[in-house]
Amino acid sequence: MLLVSALVVLTGHSLAQECQKRDYGNDGHVCVCNSTYCDTVPPPNRVEPPSYLIYTSNKAGLRFAKSEGRFIESNEISDKTIQIHPNEKYQEIFGWGGAFTDSTGVNLNSLDEPAQDNLLRAYFSNDGIEYSLCRVPIGGTDFSERGYSYDDGDEDPKLENFQLAPEDFKLKIPFIKKAQNLTGGNLRFFASVWTAPKWMKTNREYNGMWGFLRYEMYQSWADYFVKFFDKYSEQGIQFWGLVTGNEPSLAMVPFTKINSVAWTPAMLSTWVRDNLGPTIRNSSYSKIKIMMLDDQRLFLPWYPKLVLNDETTHKYVDGIAVHWYYDFLLSPRLLTETHDSFPDKFLLATEACHGDKPFQKHVDLGSWFRGEEYAKDIIQDVQNWVTGWVDWNMALNLQGGPTYIKNFVDSPIIVNSSAGEFYKQPMFYALGHFSKFVQRGSIRLGSSTFCDNVMVVAFQRPDNATAVVILNRANKVVPVTVVDNARGSTKLNLSESSITTMLYW
Ligand SMILES: *[C@@H]1O[C@H](CO)[C@@H](O)[C@H](O)[C@H]1NC(C)=O
Ligand SMILES: *[C@@H]1O[C@H](CO)[C@@H](O)[C@H](O)[C@H]1NC(C)=O
Ligand SMILES: *[C@@H]1O[C@H](CO)[C@@H](O)[C@H](O)[C@H]1NC(C)=O
Ligand SMILES: *[C@@H]1O[C@H](CO)[C@@H](O)[C@H](O)[C@H]1NC(C)=O
Ligand SMILES: *[C@@H]1O[C@H](CO)[C@@H](O)[C@H](O)[C@H]1NC(C)=O
Ligand SMILES: *[C@@H]1O[C@H](CO)[C@@H](O)[C@H](O)[C@H]1NC(C)=O
Repeated sequence: MLLVSALVVLTGHSLAQECQKRDYGNDGHVCVCNSTYCDTVPPPNRVEPPSYLIYTSNKAGLRFAKSEGRFIESNEISDKTIQIHPNEKYQEIFGWGGAFTDSTGVNLNSLDEPAQDNLLRAYFSNDGIEYSLCRVPIGGTDFSERGYSYDDGDEDPKLENFQLAPEDFKLKIPFIKKAQNLTGGNLRFFASVWTAPKWMKTNREYNGMWGFLRYEMYQSWADYFVKFFDKYSEQGIQFWGLVTGNEPSLAMVPFTKINSVAWTPAMLSTWVRDNLGPTIRNSSYSKIKIMMLDDQRLFLPWYPKLVLNDETTHKYVDGIAVHWYYDFLLSPRLLTETHDSFPDKFLLATEACHGDKPFQKHVDLGSWFRGEEYAKDIIQDVQNWVTGWVDWNMALNLQGGPTYIKNFVDSPIIVNSSAGEFYKQPMFYALGHFSKFVQRGSIRLGSSTFCDNVMVVAFQRPDNATAVVILNRANKVVPVTVVDNARGSTKLNLSESSITTMLYW
């Protein structure tokens, strides 16, 4: 027994467990994990110049396939050059992750404990993709098995009946703690709320059109956040950030069943200025990052401009949170415009998923396309000042739920509980090409590419390594020359439909 563990310690560091591929007739495949097996990607070993490491995942089937190459002393510029500009420095990276929704907890609980542990290790451990920044809903979302808040029942402005829900204890807190442990305490959380208690809202419902917060409840609603942080703090869970509320625009969408609180920019500005801002800054959570918006690119930059127009509100807000759902219609330049208007407010991508549109397949097992779209969106965001990218549900079932309002969508991990298995989708690997190799505290570097189908973004990591992520969206091999004047140049063949992370110290 002792000998076996010693061997694991000696060799485990560099030995990756391979993906167990399964093909569902899609343009890609999934990797199957269960209670005894899951593919891994061990931490990269440092290599000395002029060597570099390279990790590749592609449509044809590679998953974090590792190899090594060497720069040569040449500044050769070919017509297909990816250029890294190590002296051009941009924003700092805050992290990557997903959301601890109730549904994620339901699906984790549908597996036996060893399989649960494999799933959490896949996201959080150092032989997984090392998530560092996760979203925790305050109460229920559309990915719950019922609608609820923490103070249901009669009007209670002093929040005397505030209490956490059974969901917190069964579906969130135990997994949050395990995840935190797997990262060695490195995981940060931000909180996001969907709905207020019905009695706080003008329409007395969790969802529906024009469900604003009643003005006389503004202070109670700010106190509600502090109560939540108190209760989680009692459980040993501390928060790095909060957002003022998930997708205020939902309450302007006819027939939506998703819980929400409606905020016009003027109302939000008033509430943050007079209630949330002073309450948080005067609480034990005074250092928490306050983010506004948590909504689509469509709101940039005009909504933040209207909210932050007030000098006092401006002082309380640290960042602007954006969701991805209509990114395909809107230029990422809107992010840069927002950054240019408010250079002291960070931008963070706080929700994304595929399969949300009625005409789309909700769960699409093995879709390489969906993984590629994740990578594309991340690169566009980060090239336009976004400081991190946080996915939606970390695990859903085969249908894309549970969701009590049948709002089924896709997830990077799909659980098949009757088989005791879970499936790591191409989206998991796409996100992992960033989350694993670009730690919090990395700085984005300048980089340039030669065509739209080959996208690139580069970072300087806290350990001074350079990480370069390259997405080849072309359905063919693309030979490129990567040039970093501080190192030299190297030729790479980017395989068709591939994501590559290059690392050099
Ligand atoms: C788990 O997966 C591994 C690798 O595919 C396989 O060998 C093993 O039989 C599976 N275990 C169970 C309990 O299904
Ligand atoms: C993780 O859990 C183990 C076992 O309970 C404990 O010894 C260790 O201190 C924990 N690590 C962190 C960072 O919480
Ligand atoms: C903070 O709380 C103290 C004591 O309750 C109060 O006097 C002070 O005005 C508060 N400050 C702010 C910024 O709200
Ligand atoms: C889920 O597992 C069941 C039981 O093993 C199996 O019959 C079914 O085909 C699996 N579904 C998928 C999509 O793999
Ligand atoms: C990174 O480089 C800077 C400047 O050369 C140096 O001061 C710092 O100690 C380096 N950090 C590490 C972790 O090597
Ligand atoms: C790229 O592929 C071409 C054609 O197969 C081959 O000649 C060349 O050596 C490859 N280059 C590298 C860097 O692997």
